[in-house]
Amino acid sequence: MNDLYQRSIEIILKNQSPSGGYIASPNFPTYHYCWFRDGSFIAYAMDLAGEHESAHRFHQWVAERVNERKDLVHASIIKVHSGEKLTEAEILHTRYRLDGTDGEPGNWPNFQLDGFGTWLWALNEHRKLNPATELSQELLSAAELVADYLSELWMLPCYDCWEEFPDNVHPHTLAAIYGGLHAHTELTGKSHQAVTDTIQKQLLADAKASGHFVKFPNSPAVDASLVGLAIPYSVIALDDPIMLKTIEQIESTILHENGLHRYSKDTYYGGGAWVLLTAWLGWYYIELAKKCPDLNDGLQQKIQACKTWVEAHSQAGFALPEQVAENLNVSSYYSTWVERWGDIASPLLWSHAKYIILYLKSSVP
Ligand code: BGC
Repeated sequence: MNDLYQRSIEIILKNQSPSGGYIASPNFPTYHYCWFRDGSFIAYAMDLAGEHESAHRFHQWVAERVNERKDLVHASIIKVHSGEKLTEAEILHTRYRLDGTDGEPGNWPNFQLDGFGTWLWALNEHRKLNPATELSQELLSAAELVADYLSELWMLPCYDCWEEFPDNVHPHTLAAIYGGLHAHTELTGKSHQAVTDTIQKQLLADAKASGHFVKFPNSPAVDASLVGLAIPYSVIALDDPIMLKTIEQIESTILHENGLHRYSKDTYYGGGAWVLLTAWLGWYYIELAKKCPDLNDGLQQKIQACKTWVEAHSQAGFALPEQVAENLNVSSYYSTWVERWGDIASPLLWSHAKYIILYLKSSVP
């Protein structure tokens, strides 16, 4: 067992609040929240690492947030169904303080749907990785509310997983909803097929012009979050030609010296290479190599390159940052962000989670 793996688990456990939420980054004041998106990947990593109790407490924490907003969920569904627009006060937020309250109103966009899909996916994985554990009624009720909410709202433009571009419908967001609704069907037997089929068709139609998935419709470039379409959300097979071409585009445009960037025009902290994305790409290569052992595409070297890159970028105390200021897209933006929010977030718990996933998946034959 290596030190970075061991420390990653310790860092996550140390930064889980007694109530169950995981703080996104303890040393970065702007990230003193728990996001469903980050937290769900963290809980999955903890389940893989055998830390089921930690994952369970996170899922309980999410269920409390959702169930206490039951009336809001019902009201938003009715409103959208009748064609009305929702205001910021009428949606489920994407991030919460650790005590479960909403953040400051109005100063940070909250309408992001991907994290709810990711949560349903992680909850189902939690159940699969703990076959002896029955999910409580509280968890199942929250899952039902989230599934109903996504089934009604899925087609609305919203902020993407990087909290940007609110006027678009994002392939990664759609895929997370697809994966989440499938997971809910597996959990409860309730079918969401009409919605998931439509999402899949829409994604394939949007990829038709370029032969690969794109950041969002009419934007020809790729975004690293498109890896999620295959793993973990399975809206497309790992070795589907469209997915392979998407990965090729990612490799040729936003992978620099083995570190993966979010997208080529990203300016956040200058647009460096992200630890969690490099590990995510490694996870994709691992699953592809397992599915297609005959695919001779240097996959083992690529997996090793992702691992080595992440390990080489751990900092004092084995902390993994959110991103690394190397090969910046627009270097002048680096200091702008440092002045605004301080040094790059580190440790970022989501980075540690993705490393745990990469480490464990690459160790299992
Ligand atoms: C990222 C989000 C993430 C949040 C907390 C933001 O900069 O764009 O994806 O959820 O940080 O880690």
